[in-house]
Amino acid sequence: MKTANNQPSKRDSFASSFGVLVALAGSAVGLGNLWRFPYLVGQNGGAAFILIYLGFVILAGLPVMLAEFIIGRRSHASARKAFQKLAPGTRWGIAGVLGVICCVFILSFYSVVGGWGLEYLYKAVCFDFTTGDDQALKTMFSGFSTSVWRPLLCHTIFLGLTAGIVIAGVQNGIEKFSKVMMPLLFLIVIGIAVRSMTLPGSGPGMDYLFMPDWSKVTSETFLAALGQSFFSLSLGSCMVITYASYVKKEANIISLCAQTAAADTVFALIAGCAIMPAVFAFGISPGEGPDLVFITLPHIFSQMPMGGVIAILFFLALILAALTSSISILEVIVAFCIEEFKMKRKVAVAVVFLLILVLGALCSLSIGPLDGWTILGRNIFDLFDFLSANFLMLICGLLFVIFVGWKLGRKAVFDELSNGGTLHIPAWLLKTAIFLIRFAAPAALIAIAVFQVKE
Ligand code: PFF
Repeated sequence: MKTANNQPSKRDSFASSFGVLVALAGSAVGLGNLWRFPYLVGQNGGAAFILIYLGFVILAGLPVMLAEFIIGRRSHASARKAFQKLAPGTRWGIAGVLGVICCVFILSFYSVVGGWGLEYLYKAVCFDFTTGDDQALKTMFSGFSTSVWRPLLCHTIFLGLTAGIVIAGVQNGIEKFSKVMMPLLFLIVIGIAVRSMTLPGSGPGMDYLFMPDWSKVTSETFLAALGQSFFSLSLGSCMVITYASYVKKEANIISLCAQTAAADTVFALIAGCAIMPAVFAFGISPGEGPDLVFITLPHIFSQMPMGGVIAILFFLALILAALTSSISILEVIVAFCIEEFKMKRKVAVAVVFLLILVLGALCSLSIGPLDGWTILGRNIFDLFDFLSANFLMLICGLLFVIFVGWKLGRKAVFDELSNGGTLHIPAWLLKTAIFLIRFAAPAALIAIAVFQVKE
């Protein structure tokens, strides 16, 4: 294979294990944690949702992550080629293509929301959140998000930033960016959580997060929690396959996956602690839905001591988190184009940029002028979100665990997890991992699917 400079070379790779970890955690920690998780917690009964979510992280999320990691590192190839290499002459490559399609859907609406983050950072810097009037803030957000040009401009800038990092490559772009931004992101969100938890009247917010109310749990809660665990850990989208394909043979897969899942979950909980106590302290309903971050939080910032500064920090964190994730989604599609169509990296980035620019524009306009265009009762934005998080990611996740657990088989899994026996992984841990991959994850995923069809 040739690089973008046309010199014969090896594939791009991460420079260090720490680099792999921050890139994986960077992908996992994103709008899913700061935007999706808090509003889903708010709509689904707080702590009860969190407990179900944690159950799915262990039963389904971790095994799918291990399976994707095994596929990527064993093949050192992008989404479809990975399956082709490991199971030549079969149709398993389709699973990889589905993952890439899923990334196209996600990046389209993700970049629009990232653009909203940019607009709100700009508003925060201009100290625009001075009103505590909910109606005025609602009008501000709906006026902006349903308009034509400004959200499109913000989407274009956000996608341009993403493309700029991915063009620089895995080591010089993705790894370097994530190494600097991830620690900064954690610091900012911990700072905001401390401020929020020390507000007078924040106690009920903490109770809401940590004391389960099972009466709010419905069958939808289970699908929402499973979908969120996949979305938040970036699973079923070939992201882990693609990043793992840049990882050297010595890396410890179990430890990297466990650390990534832990970092993502801890970050989601810290984000919850940054948001819910403040929501309760100001007597606002937690179930505001997707608008929580863009309407409820500015309301809170306008009333909170030092709210102006907190607003700037929050939206900065939102953008950094979104960028470290959007680069990973773009990388999946770009790596696919490079290897399938023999494109140079720059060309692949440009082509995918244009594709997502158009699809993202449709998502953005579907909230405004194209509101009437619905498919399956949803506008394009909601359709892309639903199709990816509640459908494609779960189907792909199921295919990946079946592929690794049953097609590659036990021996290959033991071999990958212990690096050919050179790592001393306790036998019980290896057995648990293979049990989760072969039985627990497929059972959880199939059970939820059957449940949904029956409803
Ligand atoms: N995990 C990201 C988030 O929580 O925002 C979203 C995501 C990134 C999904 C990468 C899929 C993906 F491949």
